[in-house]
Amino acid sequence: MKFEPKILGFLCNWCSYAGADLAGVSRIQYPTNIRVIRVMCSGRVDPSFVADAFIHGIDGVIVLGCHLGDCHYLTGNYEAEIKMKALSKLLGLVNFSNRMRLDWVSAAEGNKFAQIVSEFTNHIQKLGPSPMKEKQKEAQITDSLQAVKNVLEDSRLRGLIARQRELVTEENVYGEQITVEKFENLIDEVVRNEFIRHKIIIKIKEKGKSVPTIANEIGIKASEVLEHIVVLRARGLVDVSEINEEIPTFISILGG
Ligand code: FES
Repeated sequence: MKFEPKILGFLCNWCSYAGADLAGVSRIQYPTNIRVIRVMCSGRVDPSFVADAFIHGIDGVIVLGCHLGDCHYLTGNYEAEIKMKALSKLLGLVNFSNRMRLDWVSAAEGNKFAQIVSEFTNHIQKLGPSPMKEKQKEAQITDSLQAVKNVLEDSRLRGLIARQRELVTEENVYGEQITVEKFENLIDEVVRNEFIRHKIIIKIKEKGKSVPTIANEIGIKASEVLEHIVVLRARGLVDVSEINEEIPTFISILGG
């Protein structure tokens, strides 16, 4: 039987939703796999909504907004672009980045809306069902996607994303300006480090574990886990739960 993916679409009220409406009244054919959530602006789509959709077994997520320069709120779609770029980097760490698409559809582009939905549905059909649907992998992938969601809800990455335009276009008090490339490198670093830290927190949410055990479960070096544990302890998120034969075990204090 042909795989029929579940696609979730976030459509901005002023352009893309109207474009979808036009496709409907013009009787333009497109796959019925998409379920639509109308938002006031593509900038309203919090990246954690997308992670949440994947946690709940959605096969693909599409975010559609007004063309750049046409946002009803002036800069909402520029903000969406920045957020989705950071989200894509995070989803890349769990092999979900190719299950998400951001695009622009105006109120007059019913055909374009239908074309994007058809292309994306075909693309997800070729990729196959979400790995969340594989029973043996489900727990492991849920943990990874939950870590992605936690990073997206964490003020560290959010603060950086929110200040991107200001940081790369304005000089700081020392007269320095961050280049786009430098900023991207910074985001890459934060994304990777915070993802591992949230994975560690999830692994030790219920039971204290030693550094080698955590390293083994996450698949990274013990020395790297130790560095992250030091940071998490300094933030007051992790503490020693017990010491057995001089080997400490660590536990999350806030329960992730
Ligand atoms: S109102 Fe459509 S993207 Fe902002």
